[in-house]
Amino acid sequence: MCGIVGYVGKNKCRDVLVDSLRRLEYRGYDSAGIAVFEGEKIKTVKAKGKINEGLALKLEETGELEATAGIGHTRWATHGEPSDINSHPIGNGRVSIVHNGIIENYRELKNFLISKGYGFESETDTETVAKLLDYYYDGDPLEAISKALKDIQGAYALGIMFRQHKNKIYAVRKESPLIVGKGENESYIASDVTAILEYTREYYLLEQNEIAVLSEKGVKFYDLHGNDFEKELQTADWDISAAQKGGYKHFMIKEIHEQPAAIRNTVSPRVKDGLPDFTECGLTIDRIKSYRSIYIVGCGSAMHAGLVGKALIEKLARVPVVVDIASEFRYKDPIVTADDLVVIISQSGETADTLAALKLSKSIGADTFAVVNVVGSSIAREADMVMYTNAGPEISVCSTKAYAVQVAFMYLFAFQVAYAMEKINEKECRELTAELMGMPEIIQTCIDSEEKYQYIASKIMNADSLMYIGRGLDHALSMEGSLKLKEISYIHSEAYAAGELKHGTISLITEDVPVIAIATQRDLFEKTVSNVREVKARGAKVVMVCREDVEIDKASVNYKVGLPTVSDLLMPLVTVVPLQMIAYYTAVSRGCDVDQPRNLAKSVTVE
Ligand code: G6P
Repeated sequence: MCGIVGYVGKNKCRDVLVDSLRRLEYRGYDSAGIAVFEGEKIKTVKAKGKINEGLALKLEETGELEATAGIGHTRWATHGEPSDINSHPIGNGRVSIVHNGIIENYRELKNFLISKGYGFESETDTETVAKLLDYYYDGDPLEAISKALKDIQGAYALGIMFRQHKNKIYAVRKESPLIVGKGENESYIASDVTAILEYTREYYLLEQNEIAVLSEKGVKFYDLHGNDFEKELQTADWDISAAQKGGYKHFMIKEIHEQPAAIRNTVSPRVKDGLPDFTECGLTIDRIKSYRSIYIVGCGSAMHAGLVGKALIEKLARVPVVVDIASEFRYKDPIVTADDLVVIISQSGETADTLAALKLSKSIGADTFAVVNVVGSSIAREADMVMYTNAGPEISVCSTKAYAVQVAFMYLFAFQVAYAMEKINEKECRELTAELMGMPEIIQTCIDSEEKYQYIASKIMNADSLMYIGRGLDHALSMEGSLKLKEISYIHSEAYAAGELKHGTISLITEDVPVIAIATQRDLFEKTVSNVREVKARGAKVVMVCREDVEIDKASVNYKVGLPTVSDLLMPLVTVVPLQMIAYYTAVSRGCDVDQPRNLAKSVTVE
């Protein structure tokens, strides 16, 4: 949610800033801007809209810039509509800032600053920080930052320029992410490392309230009392090709294709001698045995992965599992105790509600186990135990491979819990683990059936509304399928437990409301087929997602999407592919901006 970049070095910075911003556009794309040290002034260019529609055009009009230091921002609006004036960088000629996060007490700060004679142009909370820094600035930027931070409540990552301190950038964060990149004679700031991978893989993880000062001489770190200190350099093992489209039309389709490899990278490191093993993450069998119950908490697709996990763990291990949406969990006074395990799922590791749920669980004394994709992210650092999903960068706002690897983790975890609870024996655990390890090849065969999904997309693309139905594990999958379609094609859809449909929602079914029925579980197949007949009788066109070897009479369904046959338990890993692809091709056929759907952002760092 909002992307920040900054550069100080020997080269002209304009293109570096804009290219880095392009790589962060998935974090927000309502507007974008840069501010640079040009001559003795701070020059700001910013515009409403995506980079190519706004900022890039304005920069063409601006012409060449000589500046070798500057900051940039791509925005997901929270305070004030997307507009030129509300775009960042924001400042007054003496101080210019870019901000990601939310200043909770901005009204109070604004009133204070107005009483001191300051005027305000934008509707943003950010402007109060810029003006507060200006108010405290008396020749010493570090002192101004320290004083301002004492007054500010909320979450922030800030990139700051003071006109009188040419070619220096100050960076500080609390809650919102920010890293500092180290290149040859140049340094960077960025909301995440993918923004600067083209220039360097070496970076520092900025901790809460540490101030980084970037200058032509390099980077120095200070605490809020002005004391300097050293930090350990990190090396990113993602390479730049992972963050590029590599010949695909969109990141989303590229990431769907990456799923087999991503699942391999998630599962293989946690299998030792044919059995699941999380001891490297700190989760031993004895520890698992000691838990009273398990909670799984996340947002969006991560929460949906938790729903698959719940079904698996309860079925295999007979341990009750509570799955919760992080924004609900954090405010409901959950019945978590110090005897419970809370599994926190997050691709980005920065989702504000999920981070808050983690902190709450820790404060209660529960063990927290984070399943995170982005190395060194806030959730990864905060949790008692962490397991990285190793899926590589996910750039498309609509999550695909990150969800698939979270589901793959859920299998391994469910096998481990069931084994620890002695609900499956070693032989059964080995067999299940071996089948899971063979899944990437089978998933690949589903991915290779792209034409089939394009055909289904062509049949639903003009609908105004759709219904996804399924039972048990298939219901969990139907929720993810429905979310994918809504996010990127803007077609309304609802996911419903197939057997519950007749208790009200079936009244929505008409011949104009296609139904995607998921029926991969053998024991529930006939039950779901009965529900399919009920909607078919009311005129719905039915797409049936089921095993390829089942016979369905043509009168019951209009289109069948056949899936390779694996054991019932593992069907979700193949089922997700057609659901993702149908959503993708429907959105493409409707001319939607697949990777950057309206109103959304990938990393939601505000509540
Ligand atoms: C946003 C994204 C979703 C994602 C959710 C949770 O809403 O658009 O795709 O599932 O956040 O993100 P996380 O990074 O915590 O998995």
